[in-house]
This record gives sequence, structure tokens and C-alpha cells, in this order.
Amino acid sequence: MDPWQPSSWRDRPALQLPAYPDAQSLAAAERRLAALPSLIFPGEISQLRQRLAAVGRGEAFLLQGGDCAESFDELGEQPVESTFRVILQMAVVLTYAAACPVVKVGRIAGQFAKPRSSDTETAGGITLPSYRGDIVNGSEFSAAARQPDPARLLTAYSHSAATLNLLRALAQGGFADLHEVHRWTADFVRSSPQGERFEELADRITQSLAFMQACGFDAARAPQLHAVEFYTSHEALHLHYEQALTRLDAREQRWYGGSAHLLWLGERTRAVEGAHVEYLRGVRNPVGVKLGPTARPDDVLRLLEILDPLQEPGRIVLIARMGSDKVAQALPPLLRAVRDAGRAPVWCCDPMHGNTVTSSNGYKTRDFERILQEVRGFFAAHAQEGTYPGGLHFEMTGQDVTECRGGAQAVSDATLGERYRSACDPRLNGSQSLELAFLIADVLKAARRAPR
Ligand code: TRP
Ligand code: MN
Repeated sequence: MDPWQPSSWRDRPALQLPAYPDAQSLAAAERRLAALPSLIFPGEISQLRQRLAAVGRGEAFLLQGGDCAESFDELGEQPVESTFRVILQMAVVLTYAAACPVVKVGRIAGQFAKPRSSDTETAGGITLPSYRGDIVNGSEFSAAARQPDPARLLTAYSHSAATLNLLRALAQGGFADLHEVHRWTADFVRSSPQGERFEELADRITQSLAFMQACGFDAARAPQLHAVEFYTSHEALHLHYEQALTRLDAREQRWYGGSAHLLWLGERTRAVEGAHVEYLRGVRNPVGVKLGPTARPDDVLRLLEILDPLQEPGRIVLIARMGSDKVAQALPPLLRAVRDAGRAPVWCCDPMHGNTVTSSNGYKTRDFERILQEVRGFFAAHAQEGTYPGGLHFEMTGQDVTECRGGAQAVSDATLGERYRSACDPRLNGSQSLELAFLIADVLKAARRAPR
């Protein structure tokens, strides 16, 4: 008998959790969360697992993107809608140009907790707890803001619920209809080279739809054209929150995480004996695992044994974040080990987190060229090992920011400061995201044609 319980992680070493000063108010917040409805429905998890199983077989591509960290202050219709429209644009580029179905997953509606390299931060002779994301404390450098506050768990829940509600409306209510493809381009992207390239592609889609209609195909009767399936994900870092939203599906008698569809383990919290692995082992949700350049084949195989003992299709997404200069060395041994163990998880490329640098004027940034280089290296490693490059995990925003250097707009050190808005990692803007999608469409098309 499997002794797993939603609380069994509490007996394990738990990294990256905040030290709450008042255990009683934490327990009270957990009780309130536990009484609230799950944000998602178990049937949606089964559906996502089926979609990811198709990715594992090389029949579809996973597109997972959004903010590094969401913020309580940024909740409004506009940021959510603009992020969603960029994901739609990228998805339609891949679907059309690579003729490949795309599974769309946002880093959204719950991405509020951040791992930190140090528990404290010192400035001007004062030492305070580190900022751990809006679900824990405030980013302002003051003792009051940095005190972990359990009431924030409930705020995170309600922000997630409101965001998810809007996303469901956008996905199902007509906004994502393929006939609307021209309306997804933001004004500031439209005039860029990527924007123009997208408009050409959108014209071709509109023509194809008109052609099919003229042939007697009734678009009104084809629900696939009018809506998309859109799933949510975040790093399952804050285990008090995740546990409180864990629910038993009465029909299946199985546990699932009710905070998002897909949950992932960070590079710092994937220790085999640790609390985060223990929690995720027991829920039905698809589980992502971030893998950096120091991940050893044996560690990965042990993790897979624990998280997916029955080798179920669609359960595991391995997210490689190697760095553009390391991917060619570090990835193939992992691909081989996993393949030789007879497993076919989804392999996804995170070209963001291994490529973060500091600009000459002190901004945390990423070079667009190195991001592209890691993506190319990821595809090349899969071609070499005969495995399938199944997805992309990226940080972006639909807003017109200047946070990553390069791209067709040639953001430079000098222009980073113009619209640098991220409270956390630098994100691709709308036109850089499109440029990335066009590149991937090309390499994906080639990879899918090549015999495996
Ligand atoms: N429903 C299909 C899909 O998700 C087609 C589709 C409708 C679509 N709207 C879309 C594809 C927007 C990409 C983007 O693939
Ligand atoms: Mn990040």
C-alpha cells in the first residue's frame, strides 16, 4: 500500500519554503484554502495528459510560456490578454508553418512563488528576508513588506481564480477563433519585421478558411476553429499552498493538485529525497522537471522512477535549461540515458534560464542570439540521439518591454533601461517571441520530416 498523503512532504527536508513567524495564522490560511473550490477539474488533467502523450510520440509540440513571476499589482485584463495573444500567435505560427498540433500551456494563473539563492538580503547595513514572490511577501525592501504573510496565500488563490476565469473566456469565447487571427497582433508589433511576417501568414490562413468555406466546409459547425484548449502551470514551490489545494477525485479515488494543470519542480527543489518530489509523486497532474547542466543521468533516472513508476504516457515533461554554451555537451547523455531506459517523456527546451547575464549598466538580461543558439543546440542534440524535441518553455510578456538584448529591434545595453519592467527575470517581448516561433517552426518542420 502506498502511504502517500497530501501532507507526507512534511516529513522530508523542504528547501525554499518561507519561515512564517506565526504558525497559527499560517494554519488558519491553509484551512481556509482547503475549504475553497479547486481551480481546475480532474477531467482537464486527463485531457492534458493525453495531449502530452501525443507530444511524447512526436505527434504534437508543447508551447509553455508566460511571466517569470506574476505579481499582485499587475492583475488586470490587459497583461493577461496580451500574454495570451502572443501565445496564440506563436501557436498559430507553429501549427501553420510546421503543420504540427500545438499544446498550449501558460506559466500563468498561479506563478507567484520564487526560489532564492539566499534566505536573506542585506542592503545599507540592514538584513531582511529575501523576496520570495507575491504569494509569500512584498518585494519592497522594508521589514514590514519582507515579513512572510499567510494572508497572501488567499490573495494568490483569488488572483489565480480571476486570471483563470479570464483565460477560459478568451480561449473559449471567440477571441481565439482562427477567423480573428489578424486581431492578435499588438500595435507595436505590427510594424516590426516579425509583425509583417506574421500578417502574411495570417493572410494565408484567412484565405485558406475562405477557400474551405467556398468548397462547402461549414466553419460554423467546426468547433475546433473557434476555440483553443489552454492549460495553466507554475512551479510547485510553495507546498503549504499546493497541499491545501490538493483534492481527492471521488470517482477515481486519486489525488490531484487543484492549483494548476501542470506543476513543475525547479532545478533547486528536485532532490530525490526532498519534500517537493514527495508531494508531486502523489498527484495525477503532469509533472515538469527542470534539468540544468549539472544534472546526472542517474539522478534523472531515479527521479523518473519515483515520479512515474508505471511509465505513463503524458506524465513527465523534462525541461532542459542548459545554457547555450553547454547544451551540446550536457544534453545528449541525458537523452541517451532516458531513451535507453525505455522511457519517452516530453523533452522541452527552456532557453531562458541558462542564459541570464548582467549588462554593463547593471540590468539582468538575456541575449536573444544565445536563446536561439540554445534552441538550435536542443534540436541538434535530439537529431543526434534519435529522440523527439517536444517543446519550448519560455519567459515572455505581451507588453512592449526592453528586457532581453537583440532581436530584430536590436535592444542594446543603452536601450534596456527604456522599458525594463520585470521584477524578476528578463522576458522576451511580443516581437522577440514571434521571431523565436518562426525559428522553431523552421527547425521543427525539418525535425518532423527527418526519419526517427
Ligand atoms: N483549435 C485548434 C488548435 O488549438 C485551432 C485553433 C483555433 C488555433 N484557434 C487557434 C490554433 C489559435 C492556434 C492558435 O490548434
Ligand atoms: Mn525565471
